[in-house]
Amino acid sequence: MRIGVLTGGGDCPGLNAVIRAVVRKGVSTYGYEFVGFRDGWRGPLEGMSKPLGINEVRGILPRGGTILGSSRTNPFKIDGGVEKIKANLADQGVDALVAIGGEDTLGVATKLHELGVKVVGVPKTIDNDLGATDYTFGFDTAVNIAMEAIDRLHTTAESHHRTLVVEVMGRHAGWIALHAGIAGGANVILLPERHFDIDQVAAYVEKRFQTQYSPIVVVAEGATPLEGQMILQNKELDAFGHVRLGGIGQWLAEQLEARTGKEARTVVLGHIQRGGTPTAFDRVLATRFGLGAIDAVHDGDWGKMVALRGTDIVRVALADATRELKTVPIERYTEAEVFFGS
Ligand code: F6P
Repeated sequence: MRIGVLTGGGDCPGLNAVIRAVVRKGVSTYGYEFVGFRDGWRGPLEGMSKPLGINEVRGILPRGGTILGSSRTNPFKIDGGVEKIKANLADQGVDALVAIGGEDTLGVATKLHELGVKVVGVPKTIDNDLGATDYTFGFDTAVNIAMEAIDRLHTTAESHHRTLVVEVMGRHAGWIALHAGIAGGANVILLPERHFDIDQVAAYVEKRFQTQYSPIVVVAEGATPLEGQMILQNKELDAFGHVRLGGIGQWLAEQLEARTGKEARTVVLGHIQRGGTPTAFDRVLATRFGLGAIDAVHDGDWGKMVALRGTDIVRVALADATRELKTVPIERYTEAEVFFGS
């Protein structure tokens, strides 16, 4: 059997560990051949591929990014996209696909499966917002990077008696902000799941200054104030209809400076959270997902996605995988609130 592998959407530490595990077990245990499709769905759409064998996956376990490249191409937005994919798979003798991606990439995989393409999915996103799995790989790395940044910001904030606002990624889920904020000892954490009251945030900041320490405010890029609109950098939509988020941190710092009279600065962590080597947790999870995915291929269990439930790797229907956005429950936010302003 000849299997195509692709990685789609925003890149994420651990993608290469999945590719490595899929290929290593696929070749050594099942005797499969592989082809790597480049740049997400653009690869099978335009027939762009590269060889993928044991040699190509040597040494990639600790490497960030993806050796296959990625894109946010949506074949369902392109005339004749599905037919082109089917034709290119047939041309290259590809029997089945392993698609590694988030909500959008797996959404495409779901529809292709319904149209007869043999596909198995692997979930990835630093945002950890896929309902069907307890964790996605990449999230732990992003949280650790943000936590280290917050640790460093504490000391410089204190030297200058400033407020430091740290804007983190996560799209419409606050998982990165919540975990990095708790781990880094932030004094306020603001999430998309709960509109914030800017006066209350300013009060927390004042209170923290009274302790002779400086406040660190962690804000998720998708967080919004009670009144007014979310601040957007760019209102353009991508091929999946997502608006590019960002800018709330700068707005917040300006508001806090005006309200407290204390200097406030913003640090936007941006793509630093997605780059570089994965943590041990993410390497192990990504490896286990890869092994689980190639087993699903071997079983002919098409239309499934591997997922983490507790400590087990399970299979769920691709259709269920993307149905629900996993957001932060209010009880988790309440735990963090104990530390606000102190
Ligand atoms: O979904 C992962 C993610 O990093 C989000 O946290 C962020 O909003 C988005 O991707 C950024 O996408 P891009 O790299 O295309 O700007």
